Amino acid sequence: MGTLASGISPLPVCSSLSLGNSIRDRSNRDASGERVSNCCRFGSTGSVKENCHSSSYSPSPPSSSACRVSPSAEIKSSVSSCRSSSASGKFFSGSGFRVGSLSGSGILSLTSIRKRSGRKFAVHYMAPGPEAGFKNGRLQSAASEAELTKIQQVEAHFQQETQAVSAGQYVVEDAEHTLVEPSDEFRKTALIPSLEKYDALYKESVKDPDAFWSRIASEFYWKEKWEVNDGKIHTENFDIREGPIKVEWFKGGKTNICYNALDRHVEAGRASDIAMYWEGNEPGYDSTVTFGQLLELVCQVANYLRSLGVKKGDAVVIYMPMLVELPVAMLACARIGAIHSVVFAGFSADSLAQRILDCKPKVVLTANGVMRGAKLINLKSIVDDALAQTKKQGHAVETCLVYGNEVATKKEETAWVGERDVWWQDVIPSQASRSEVEWVDAEDPLFLLYTSGSTGKPKGVLHTTGGYMVYTATTFKHAFDYRPGDIYWCTADCGWITGHSYLTYGPLLNGATVVNFEGVPTYPDAGRCWEIVDKYKVTIFYTAPTAIRSLMRAGDEPVKKHSRKSLRMLGSVGEPINPAAWKWYYEVVGDSRCPISDTWWQTETGGFMITPVPGAFALKPGSATFPFFGVQPAIVDENGKELEGECSGYLCIKASWPSAFRTLFGDHSRYETTYFAPFKGFYFSGDGCHRDKDGYYWLTGRVDDVINVSGHRIGSAEVESALVLHPQCAEAAVVGYDHDVKGQGIYAFVTLVEGVDYSEELRKALVAKVRSQIGPFAAPDVIHWAPGLPKTRSGKIMRRILRKIAANQIDELGDVSTLADPGVVEQLIELKGK
Ligand code: WTA
Repeated sequence: MGTLASGISPLPVCSSLSLGNSIRDRSNRDASGERVSNCCRFGSTGSVKENCHSSSYSPSPPSSSACRVSPSAEIKSSVSSCRSSSASGKFFSGSGFRVGSLSGSGILSLTSIRKRSGRKFAVHYMAPGPEAGFKNGRLQSAASEAELTKIQQVEAHFQQETQAVSAGQYVVEDAEHTLVEPSDEFRKTALIPSLEKYDALYKESVKDPDAFWSRIASEFYWKEKWEVNDGKIHTENFDIREGPIKVEWFKGGKTNICYNALDRHVEAGRASDIAMYWEGNEPGYDSTVTFGQLLELVCQVANYLRSLGVKKGDAVVIYMPMLVELPVAMLACARIGAIHSVVFAGFSADSLAQRILDCKPKVVLTANGVMRGAKLINLKSIVDDALAQTKKQGHAVETCLVYGNEVATKKEETAWVGERDVWWQDVIPSQASRSEVEWVDAEDPLFLLYTSGSTGKPKGVLHTTGGYMVYTATTFKHAFDYRPGDIYWCTADCGWITGHSYLTYGPLLNGATVVNFEGVPTYPDAGRCWEIVDKYKVTIFYTAPTAIRSLMRAGDEPVKKHSRKSLRMLGSVGEPINPAAWKWYYEVVGDSRCPISDTWWQTETGGFMITPVPGAFALKPGSATFPFFGVQPAIVDENGKELEGECSGYLCIKASWPSAFRTLFGDHSRYETTYFAPFKGFYFSGDGCHRDKDGYYWLTGRVDDVINVSGHRIGSAEVESALVLHPQCAEAAVVGYDHDVKGQGIYAFVTLVEGVDYSEELRKALVAKVRSQIGPFAAPDVIHWAPGLPKTRSGKIMRRILRKIAANQIDELGDVSTLADPGVVEQLIELKGK
């Protein structure tokens, strides 16, 4: 296959949606394997919906085979799915999934569900006459007794299977044909209440991005306005053949993101409004911070950093748990023009050291310890270890500012390096509570955030100020249909991009009240999230599919025990959400009332790229729907040719958007070769994608050597490098495999050095090695002993074969004859599970 840069997996030929693995196999086939293409939508207006969505940029015209649905009051806003070969249809209600009924005669396949093991079945029944159906929640009597009995049987069968779906065992294949409309009530007050409005804005945003984003940017405070050259406020080159890749937005404009996120609201009289509810790991530990208080705290930290000589352009590393002090530290850096580099406080000492050595900060901020669930994590000792390593390698950090988190660790039990370590509580409260703002250029760096790539060395993604500010605020507002008074909870940690853009900057720029939760969703029990939702009257809840799946496993009861009536909007991020989890989230958590914004984006993109604008159009379970304003996606084939209409391929972006990352810190050429060389003229996301005939985008997972574990990106090369550091490991090859809760798990094939025997003890030691090199979240789930690895004659490991073995798809190994030693494959199969 073609001309792909190494590391990118070829996509299956003519796959519909089956780019990924079986979890994400949304291929639209019935039990006979035939492709069926219909679409039905259900709404809550009670009116007949004629067509599926289409618009100028979504290539398909309204589907002629869309089935029309007249939902009853009872089936308002619930997930439905149907398919047919004829157009007119009625709808029958069943609990759980709704069964579509279609007029005409003959056997109709209603839906088919595929068990993860690959088992398929379909439900068939004889359709009743056209007049039968539900009206006002009641089945009309036009159907004969026999037909009614048949329908009831079908529904009973469906209900059974639906329970299996809820339990996460099945994947519903009809997601592509399911349209979930926002309710009338939601739409009535939505910021963008119609497809027409969204369409008009989208068209403007791509036709004249300069005018579009200037208008939005004017709503922020700029000390000095940006430069305009020939009507342009941005310059870009996305085509490596034309010269160096370059992106700039609002250049010459002077602003400060901290000022816009805090001072602006305080100056508008909102000092006593709540900016943040902090909820501790342990129920009962909480605090409330107003915008006025948050600003004071930020100013104090800013003043202290200044007193240490930290100035504009200097890097500051932050390794902290989810205390209020973490976003405070980020905002304090932004206030003085310093570049923050937050390292997730689950990374190991080695990973932290690597990141410190890259940007060489004078100051590192941390806390002495944290409780995560029932587990104590001694952060300070990890930092001590990292700082000792960096010192040895030539970079001595001058000050380590340590927040004494007494709930986790006593101060007196904390190891201390006298001349370097300073207690936060000893120096911050005495600082002045006002601090001058450093006005920076829109293109001055705001932060660095490391992310995994396909080599062992993490990439320092660099974001600048102005475009990031405008874009994160705008995406937050529209993807969540935010309005004043909303209480917004994002469960992400500030150690990842989601915690930057949508826990800190995006919401605070909008003056929103955010919930910052220190703990984990299942501690002390699976009801914790809903308890927090009720406690703070959360209206918008944003989390990751991995959390949804783990909560779904605990059943409906812990959810139903809590009211959740404040919720009006849900969100998902980090990995593709499988339709079964989507459905559970929608029906059980959101009581079939709250739209779900499944937001596709990346550390590199800074903000949402493909996301619902929930009042504007119907959702499909598992689809990120349409591009945000100004975003021009392209799906390309392996030769970089842009595909039109319904297609599957590699997801690229054609032109820049304000919050695009500007470079990889210290390595612009890696930036160009990783993202802009694979498909000339485009930014390549690393993701596979399908666009259905209605123009909806379906992300199908990474196509490079990056594994997405619980929404965290981990490079297979990073794990391999960690494994081979163990003296008894000769070689390692790591691939991802489907994992029920985490989305993907880490599967490591390990060859030991001559003469060493496999043992349980060694397995544990190898896992421990990865934990200590990268962090516990990167620990392999499976170690598969491999006397040999499948290699080509030129010595390249054929990961395709390893992925199939890991996925138990032994009969789909394909051609192994090109291997140097085809015998190793059999050997590996024999050793599976041993
Ligand atoms: C994946 C997280 C499907 C994708 C914001 C992407 C998703 C990577 C989604 C970026 C989604 C994120 N649907 N896949 N809604 N959101 N991804 O940099 O593979 O940690 O490339 O940013 O996560 O991960 P990152």
